Amino acid sequence: MSESFIRIPDKYSGYAISHFCVPKHYEDDLEDIMIPWGLIQDRTERLARDIFQDVRDEPLTALCVLKGGYRFYTDLLEKITTLNRSHGSVSVPINVDFIRLKSYENAESTGEIRVVGGDNLNGLRGQNVLVVEDIIDTGRTMEKLLAILAKHGPKSVKVASLLVKRRPGSTGYRPDYTGFEIPDKFVVGYALDYNEYFRDLNHICVINENGKKKYAVTH
Ligand code: HPA
Ligand code: MG
Repeated sequence: MSESFIRIPDKYSGYAISHFCVPKHYEDDLEDIMIPWGLIQDRTERLARDIFQDVRDEPLTALCVLKGGYRFYTDLLEKITTLNRSHGSVSVPINVDFIRLKSYENAESTGEIRVVGGDNLNGLRGQNVLVVEDIIDTGRTMEKLLAILAKHGPKSVKVASLLVKRRPGSTGYRPDYTGFEIPDKFVVGYALDYNEYFRDLNHICVINENGKKKYAVTH
């Protein structure tokens, strides 16, 4: 049986920047293109279908984890609502909500997070929640978010993440829906950032040393 996600191997070297269009201001800052925008779309179309078939006609509260999740969220929901229009016999009513996660100040040791923005989480009581995230890295953030959400009594919580990183030190957490499993490299684009840069890039790319230096935060 095939895996439930697309595995990008460690040896994969991606596509040359020169073969696709990237903004001029990022041309010198990228190693290669790991996942072109078109492939993200095609994979997202399938995830939308999987979610649509699993949920069927129960209402769904789609919770976007900002900022990194916003592009995947809008594309995923657009594809689910396309299915809603085209299937005469079933459709999934969707509520939308948006949250941001903040670390508590001086929480480096504990890594505790809090949820900011969005509607009152008490509104999740009895709802089928779909958390939409850009990337699962260590898994710690998502495990903490799920613990917070569980306190508000949702009927169910599922997670869709466009990317999962193969990373030493991972908690082993796996989302319900995964787009791609990627090597342990820092990726940017399609709303994933490096110090707030590169969200305005369509493809998912590997940042190079030049980019890391250019957009480093200097104190
Ligand atoms: N890119 C952007 N944001 C991230 C990454 C990454 O590779 N890992 C965790 N957050
Ligand atoms: Mg994120």
